Amino acid sequence: MLEQITATRYVTPLREGGSLPGVVEADDLGTYVVKFRGAGQGRRVLVAEVIGAELARRLGFRTPELKMIEIDPQLGAREPDEEIQDLLKASEGANLAVDFLPGALGFEPLTWPPDPEFASRLIWFDALIHNVDRSWRNPNLLLWHGDVWLIDHGAALWFHHNWPTADPRRGFRADDHVLAPFATETARADAELAPLITRDLLDAVVDEVPDEWLEDEPGFDGAQAVRQAYVDHLLARVQEPRTWVPEPPAEPGQAPRREEKTGSVGGFWRDNR
Ligand SMILES: Nc1ncnc2c1ncn2[C@@H]1O[C@H](COP(=O)(O)OP(=O)(O)OP(=O)(O)O)[C@@H](O)[C@H]1O
Ligand SMILES: [Mg+2]
Repeated sequence: MLEQITATRYVTPLREGGSLPGVVEADDLGTYVVKFRGAGQGRRVLVAEVIGAELARRLGFRTPELKMIEIDPQLGAREPDEEIQDLLKASEGANLAVDFLPGALGFEPLTWPPDPEFASRLIWFDALIHNVDRSWRNPNLLLWHGDVWLIDHGAALWFHHNWPTADPRRGFRADDHVLAPFATETARADAELAPLITRDLLDAVVDEVPDEWLEDEPGFDGAQAVRQAYVDHLLARVQEPRTWVPEPPAEPGQAPRREEKTGSVGGFWRDNR
């Protein structure tokens, strides 16, 4: 289970995050980015955050430490912004705290050129967990202390929004992935990572998810049954044949041709074509 802490001060909202995450201080004197259970996307997003990050960590990726943070709705009493007051009220109880990485920068291939091994392992991992939120528009990778850190797995495991149609064989659209042009060694990543995905490893990962976010899931008999469904899905996904493993890029290192508006990472691609 994740370590439990209690929020002591709401510092500031992280306006760039779609789910209105906030910077919060806690009784362990730490500072965290908090993902609130009362946010529009609901608690399944928090489950995906925990399973995604805890699996990533066990496969050797860097990702900030996660804790379970208790929110007292009184925390918002001095908060002038009504939207935040409402969010804190709706988030009484267990929320997700992500260790705040002070001074972290958004990922830019110019400042941190990804090596093919890392790119291939990351795209393999994102394909495994159906993570559709690591695009070049929104990489959800941070650069901190000279390394790259994975954040924001809330959009992964999206099959859990409709369990009856969950398909462990579903393909993965890799061409939008921020590291797709560098992922030339996906076959090697597959050979190395697939054998690590065992029932024991997945059991340890889903055990980190608090019961509170799994109880009363329609179609399941309690939190433990939901945990097992995630384990069974991911175990089925790593069985051969793994047709979802992304192919290496046709033009390694080449920018994807896009017409959409570009952000900073997109600007890099555009300018270097
Ligand atoms: N642990 C962290 N340390 C430092 N900065 C962070 C951390 N987590 C998130 N951020 C910053 O806050 C932004 C929003 O966080 P995150 O992507 O997790 O939220 P979100 O609501 O899921 O966002 P979106 O849906 O827009 O991607 C990140 O892009 C990053 O700039
Ligand atoms: Mg994000």
